[in-house]
Amino acid sequence: MIGVFDSGLGGLSVLAALVEALPGADFTYFADTAHVPYGNKEDGFIQSRVLEVGADLVAGGCGLLVVACNTATVAAVQALRAAHPGIPVVGVEPGIKPAAQESRSGRIAVLATEATARSSRLKRLIEDHAGNVEVFVEPCPGWATHVEMLQLDDPALATDIRARIEPLLDQGVDRIVLGCTHYSFLAPQLRQVIGTRAQLVDVADAVARQTRRLAADLARGSGRLLLQASAHPERLRAALPRLHLGHIAARVA
Ligand code: DGL
Repeated sequence: MIGVFDSGLGGLSVLAALVEALPGADFTYFADTAHVPYGNKEDGFIQSRVLEVGADLVAGGCGLLVVACNTATVAAVQALRAAHPGIPVVGVEPGIKPAAQESRSGRIAVLATEATARSSRLKRLIEDHAGNVEVFVEPCPGWATHVEMLQLDDPALATDIRARIEPLLDQGVDRIVLGCTHYSFLAPQLRQVIGTRAQLVDVADAVARQTRRLAADLARGSGRLLLQASAHPERLRAALPRLHLGHIAARVA
């Protein structure tokens, strides 16, 4: 069993890539919906949640963990690895490296939660991988909550997206990194503002490839999916078609 978790629905964007890359694997997806969003919380709180959820998944039989959340990864992936030395742990980090490599203008942006935006881990990622490319870090408070409420077409969100993206495009940014797994579900709304001026960079497929490399025998299961949540677990399955993930629903045990 492979355990995948996030604060809420965002990690389902990673789960979709994982299911495609590992069609025979069994997955447990855990959404910490009693504590979503993580992005406006203190690092210590996020870390204690990640350690608790990780321990529960391991106790439930997961032999590999995917932290399908940038915020949880920056705050706690090291602590989670230290807590489970025998278990591979795959984290999700903003795709600074591919964005910087592909950029023609030499300017890229990262959209992230407040916690990810302020983190020293993101700072280090930029120092290590952006080279001479200028990186604009844009915190996007409230966006993950809109996804959580399935309010993807809320006019207030559309206004906020425009207000944050237009200035980045005016600066000549040509790659925009989705630095929060929830934001993958806002790609259509983002593209409406971006048009052809920039491209979105999402690492879900790269995370799925890395997980496949580490999966070994876990790749061979019965293709089952368990959906769990710390609050309102029934909402997870109901959200799948709204997030264009109806094809995953058939696997739900
Ligand atoms: N989906 C998460 C991420 O990738 C966090 C969203 C939140 O809970 O604030 O950062």
